[in-house]
This record gives sequence, C-alpha cells and structure tokens, in this order.
Amino acid sequence: MVKSAYIASLLAACATPAVGQLHQLAVNAGLKYFGTCLDNSHTSDAALMAIINNSAEVGQLVPENGQKWAYVQPTQNSFTYTTADVIPNLATSKNLVLRCHTLTWHSQLPNWVANGSWTKAQLQAVIEAHIANVMAHYKGKCYAWDVVNEAADDSGAWRDSVFYRVMGTDFLPISFKAAKAADANTKLYYNDYNLEYNGAKTDRVVEAVNIIKAAGAPIDGVGLQGHLIVGSTPSRANLATVLRRFTALGVEVAYTELDIRHSSVPASSSALTTQANDYANVVGSCLDVTGCVGVTVWGMSDKYSWVPSTFSGAGEALLYDSNMNKKAAWTAVSSVLAAKATGTAKPSSTTTTLVTSTKATSTTAAPATTTTASSSTGQARWGQCGGIGWTGPTTCQSPYTCQKQNDWYSQCL
Ligand code: G3I
Repeated sequence: MVKSAYIASLLAACATPAVGQLHQLAVNAGLKYFGTCLDNSHTSDAALMAIINNSAEVGQLVPENGQKWAYVQPTQNSFTYTTADVIPNLATSKNLVLRCHTLTWHSQLPNWVANGSWTKAQLQAVIEAHIANVMAHYKGKCYAWDVVNEAADDSGAWRDSVFYRVMGTDFLPISFKAAKAADANTKLYYNDYNLEYNGAKTDRVVEAVNIIKAAGAPIDGVGLQGHLIVGSTPSRANLATVLRRFTALGVEVAYTELDIRHSSVPASSSALTTQANDYANVVGSCLDVTGCVGVTVWGMSDKYSWVPSTFSGAGEALLYDSNMNKKAAWTAVSSVLAAKATGTAKPSSTTTTLVTSTKATSTTAAPATTTTASSSTGQARWGQCGGIGWTGPTTCQSPYTCQKQNDWYSQCL
C-alpha cells in the first residue's frame, strides 16, 4: 500500500515538468531555503500562484504586509489576525518555511502608537503587549521573526522613531527579551536595508547587535534586506565581507527582502545582464559564508513589486517578468546555486560574473559556473545542457533529461 503510493507519487512527479527549482537547488547547495514574500491580494493571480505553489521553486514564504502592527493591532488591545493569517496558513498547509515579519517597526505603525504621548514605561508595556500577543498567536509556526526592523537610518544615525525618541536604544533589548519570552524556539532577527554597502549604517547595526547582547537579550540573526540597484550592487566578495561582520558576532544571517531594481524601465538587454550578475553575486555571497541560511526575494514577479510606487521610473527588480517568464536573473541565480550544489562553485574570494555578454537576447554566454562535471554520458543533474551560445554537452546523465528553462538556458532535471 505504502509502496504503491510512493510509486504513484514518483510517477506524478515525473509527469509534471519541472518549471523551476530554486529552493531545491538552494537546499542542495547547503541553504535552508529559497523563498519569497507574498501579499494577500496577490494570491488570486493563478499565474503567480503556479510559481509559488511549486515547492521546488519556493520553499519559504513571508507575509509582505499582513503581520505588521497596523493590521494586527490597529487600535490598542484590539488584536485581529484575519489579514495576518492568510500567508502563514498557506505556508503551513504546504509545509513551507515561514518567516514572520515584523514587530517593532516605525512604519505601518498605527497612529495610536506613532503619535501617542508615552512615558518610557508606558511604551515599553505597549511593545511587550504587542510582541507577547502576536508571537503567542504564531507560536511554533515561524522559523524566524523580524523582531526589530530598520532602527538605523540611512546616514547611520539611530532612526528618529517614536521608539527611539521615548526609549533611546533600550527598545532594542526590550523587544528581543519580550520575543524570547513569547516563543523561545523561533529565531529572533534584527532586519534592515542598505547594510550591504558596509558603511556607517552597517556600523550602526553592528552596534545594535552589541547593545542587544550587552543587555543580556537574545538575538539569533541579522537580516540583510537586499533592496539593491542594478549596477551598484557590491561584489560577491564585498557582500561576503559584510555577512561575516555579522556572523563574527555569533548570529546567523540571511538575505530577507532581495530585489535589484533598474533605475529606469524598460530595462535594456545589457541592463538585464548586469542585473543577472548582481543577483548571482548576492546569492553567491550567501553561499560563501557559513551562517548565511537563506535567500528571500521580495516578490517573484515584476508584476507585483513595491518598487515602482516608491521609486518613480524604476522597477523590473525581480526574477520573473510581468508575464511570469523567467528573466536572465533567474538563470543566474539558478546557475550559482547549481554550481554550489554540484561542487563547481568558484572560491569565495572571486566575484561571480556569470553572464558575460551584454546582449542577453542574442548571445548571452552560458553561465560559466553552470558547467558541471560532464562525462561521456552527459551532464550531471542540474547541469546546463543548452541555450543560446551554449557549446557544452547537450545530453544528460540518466535518468535526467535536458529541459528548456528559457532561450538561454536548458538544464538537466
Ligand atoms: O491596505 C491598503 C488598502 O486598504 C488600500 O486600498 C491600498 C491603496 O493604496 O493600500 C493598502 O496598503 C498598502 C500596503 O502596502 C498593502 O498593499 C500601502 O498603501 C503600501 O504603502 C504598502 O506598501 C508596503 C510597504 O512595505 C510599506 O512600508 C509594500 O507592499 C511592502 O512591500 C513594503 O515592504 C517593506 C518591508 O516590510 C520592510 N522593508 C522594506 C520593504 C519595502 O518598502
């Protein structure tokens, strides 16, 4: 009975063409997950959900908005989880890793908190009540919680939020202590953007981790959001250096909201190639650093991204285009993961340059690191076996077959 069910599931798997496998490759490469955020309003898009529902492609979800303070406690002591539960329920039903986002944050914060007139003790009680209630609701379900989000501003100063104005930096350890008391078994993260440049803001967040620890509060991770710009993304080696600044403090790290936007759209084919290389460098840096546990992109498709409404004229920051076609960036991410998964990754000190052509639409070179050890019987699993410009083997070792991913990339699956 069990055996026939197993065979049936194998046959079903064989009958379903693999359309993507970023999560599976990430796990094979040593990460815990590859995932994405998802907003409630996007779950009705069948084409998007075909990608999301492929658990070989997406192995982790995070609610893009639903768990934020404004939604769960819009008025004091009135907690509501109707909106917040949608994505966690989806993740749980599919057995996906769930990242939970976010607790103490200056944005999407209801007016009663942001504009309240608080003493330090009162605001501490407000934070503690919020964290206790929300984390109790999700107890045991979240791999990680973004406990404090974006406490440093872009100049490297502490952000001018109600929390900092009233409490100084004490809101940091207070939040983490409250989180530990509410759920001792989830990873507690500090999460922020623009840490990737290793500047004054990065220094400030290193200080934040030290403040939290010095106060005897627990912190397990630092999330680097990774909201980056095509052509301005640091090299793989420099990104790895930043990750190691944090792992040296005894915490794990992850890219938690990765997107790499074009400053103007539509992007040219050379800009798409640059974007692909930037993506490869970010994902590659995570692979290079022990303690980097996963990569989360801030949306799978350019159809749904916060970028155009925030940065006028900018966009196309994600791995799939608005028609749900894989972009060169998807190929690059797939390749750098496959290279690590099959043991052909470059040493950590190198900068990944996966796509060398400036014309992605015609002559984009095969991602160099994709070439897995070939043999007379063809490419190994995950190896490249075709695509525009590809001159390597075009057959696969049994039982894998060469499957087209896009015009530039076919892969043994
Ligand atoms: O819920 C209302 C809806 O009722 C209304 O009809 C609609 C009209 O515009 O707005 C809806 O709220 C929007 C919300 O997303 C949900 O869609 C807000 O206007 C909009 O500002 C909000 O944007 C979110 C943004 O955080 C808010 O700061 C983005 O979707 C979300 O991607 C973005 O995510 C943040 C991370 O949480 C933290 N790091 C930065 C990242 C990008 O800004």
